[in-house]
Amino acid sequence: MKIIPGITSQVLATRIAAELDCKATLCEYKRFPDGEFYTRIVDDVKDEEVVIVQSIRTDSDLICLLQLIDAAEESSRTRVVIPYLGYARQDKKFEHGEAISIRAIARSISAADLDTIYVVNVHNRSVLQYFDADTTELDAASVIANYIAKYEIAPAVIIGPDGGATELAEAIASPYGFEYDVLEKKRITGAEVEIKPKKLSVESKKVVIVDDIISTGGTIAEAAALLTRQGASDIYVACIHGVFVQNAVLRMHDAGVKELIATDTIESVFSKVSIAKMVAEVLKK
Ligand code: R5P
Repeated sequence: MKIIPGITSQVLATRIAAELDCKATLCEYKRFPDGEFYTRIVDDVKDEEVVIVQSIRTDSDLICLLQLIDAAEESSRTRVVIPYLGYARQDKKFEHGEAISIRAIARSISAADLDTIYVVNVHNRSVLQYFDADTTELDAASVIANYIAKYEIAPAVIIGPDGGATELAEAIASPYGFEYDVLEKKRITGAEVEIKPKKLSVESKKVVIVDDIISTGGTIAEAAALLTRQGASDIYVACIHGVFVQNAVLRMHDAGVKELIATDTIESVFSKVSIAKMVAEVLKK
């Protein structure tokens, strides 16, 4: 098996290759003067079983993935790992005339004859229906749970910033029996809204706020400021996909966040935990 590292997932791809004790192929990436992207798999993959690893965070990440799939046409079997599947939040038409972006992307990727596609904690599982190829979702919650348990953050209360994060909060809390809850907005009067954990008190407790994606950091900053006001002793933040755009990191820091933990589905200095082993185990099967 050969691992083909896409331009955005170089470190993760190398880690997966190391876990599998196989080779990460050499690739060449550049832009032409007119801005078009160029991709080449330098090593020969003819009749080889290959796994392409490439997150889709930006438009050009998608182009790179499509080019790699095309370049690997002589392989005997092509599987694709998309650690971060961007565009998945535009999963339906919110307004008339809109594109279902993730459907357009899924269709373009599935146009090639792929064996299997793996995605990690996709924002809304129902988008998997848009892929024609066999598509499997991997869950990195336990990778984060292990970090929390190991690095003295525990015992902590796991808090999802909204109802949408309930499943993730539970999945991170369950393996080690942490308490978990989600924040809930309650309308007190026409003009007054109260936000607080549904059932638990965070007074004098360490809290880990968890979310699948952190983009602008707005959701987490609001939650962190609130939990600080409610007496949480320390606030940690953990996410699967750390997109961190604009001044996200500063916003969260200013809201009282002590430590930021992300996986390497998107590679950054906050990628303190790796999904490489989890992916390698699935690829071995
Ligand atoms: C939304 O549904 C997601 O689960 C995240 O809560 C959201 O993407 C976070 O975005 P931001 O960091 O911009 O508040």
